[in-house]
Amino acid sequence: MFQDTKLLPPDPILGLTKLFQDDPRSEKIDLGVGVYRDLRGATPVMKAVVQAEANVTAAQKTKAYTPADGAPGFGPAILDLVFGKDSNILSSGRAAAVQTPGGCGALRLAGELLNTQGAASLTLGEPTWPNHVPLLSAAGLKLNSVPYYDRDANGVDFAAFKAGVSRLGANDVLLLHGCCHNPTGADLSIEQVDEIANMAAAQGFLPLIDAAYHGFAKDLDADAYMIRKFSADLPEVLVTYSCSKNFGLYRERTGALIIVGASADRAAAVKSQAISLARKNYSMPPAHGGEVVAEILSDPALSKLWREELTEMADRVRSNRQLLERTAQASGLHNRLSFVADQAGMFSLLPLSEDQIRIMREDYGVYIVGGGRINLCGVNEVNVEHLVRAYKAATSA
Ligand code: LMR
Repeated sequence: MFQDTKLLPPDPILGLTKLFQDDPRSEKIDLGVGVYRDLRGATPVMKAVVQAEANVTAAQKTKAYTPADGAPGFGPAILDLVFGKDSNILSSGRAAAVQTPGGCGALRLAGELLNTQGAASLTLGEPTWPNHVPLLSAAGLKLNSVPYYDRDANGVDFAAFKAGVSRLGANDVLLLHGCCHNPTGADLSIEQVDEIANMAAAQGFLPLIDAAYHGFAKDLDADAYMIRKFSADLPEVLVTYSCSKNFGLYRERTGALIIVGASADRAAAVKSQAISLARKNYSMPPAHGGEVVAEILSDPALSKLWREELTEMADRVRSNRQLLERTAQASGLHNRLSFVADQAGMFSLLPLSEDQIRIMREDYGVYIVGGGRINLCGVNEVNVEHLVRAYKAATSA
């Protein structure tokens, strides 16, 4: 069977972590995989999670299967967080949630759901998270791309994006990043989100909003703007939600597919299809992360602690952006990296060629994802000068 099976190269993002770990240089900098890092470069378990885990473990009486839609309490808690407790999307029953194995699991389930329900195509803005393409095409979808980002202007190319989106019709799906665009850090403005919502209403395409960084751009309510606006204005929306970054639950694989239907009855029907697809694949998601999230969000003290910790993480990434901008300015790079300070979330895309990315890695131990994506969490007071030195050297070579 496997005599001729080809050995594949490592994953372009996850493979970089291994290369970094194997690098013996002490001044090396990891700007690769999208995990939060504190000043010492560590990714600690959040205090709210530690306490919630203790509560969950103490209360646990069985390891018997959880319900098909995930840990009890998880779905309603995520819906409250995303839409706001008083939302009429929730009181009308138009929204339903299915817990999934991480944001990737949610995307794959969404992809299979769309494929089985007859989606004609799924359109992505270019560039997008490198795993979107293999993941969604593995679900059987036909993918198209439209321009999203202007690498010369280091910002959203909204005219080009809109021109691409204007060609979509009923049965087409448009993938959008809820906030903290990965890999560019360049989000649509509120006015631009409103324009895309109007286009969806007029043209009939279905938005699929990937929400992996909820709470990292401005705050939990502001970051849910796109989801809330689209759900209020449109009959149908899908959201793929990840608890990896905002709850720091990366390895617990905790996420959700959120379905907004034209009515409670339509949402329930689509949810039943998603559950049936999950049953044919992994049966049900791992319970632990969902139990932890439900515990945090249902306990006012834990919820407050979690919100404070999330704010602290988001503030730190924002201050790292300013630190990089200031250091670049002071090192004679003038405004070349000033766009980084205005962007949102963990990532920005540095204007680097693949050769320059290689020079930064090989000569300076600075690890950057292909295409130029940097994770700002990896920048700190100690390493920022080395980073800027490497950038200057690579871009003048
Ligand atoms: C990233 O973009 O680095 C993260 O979402 C981790 C991953 O799975 O790629």
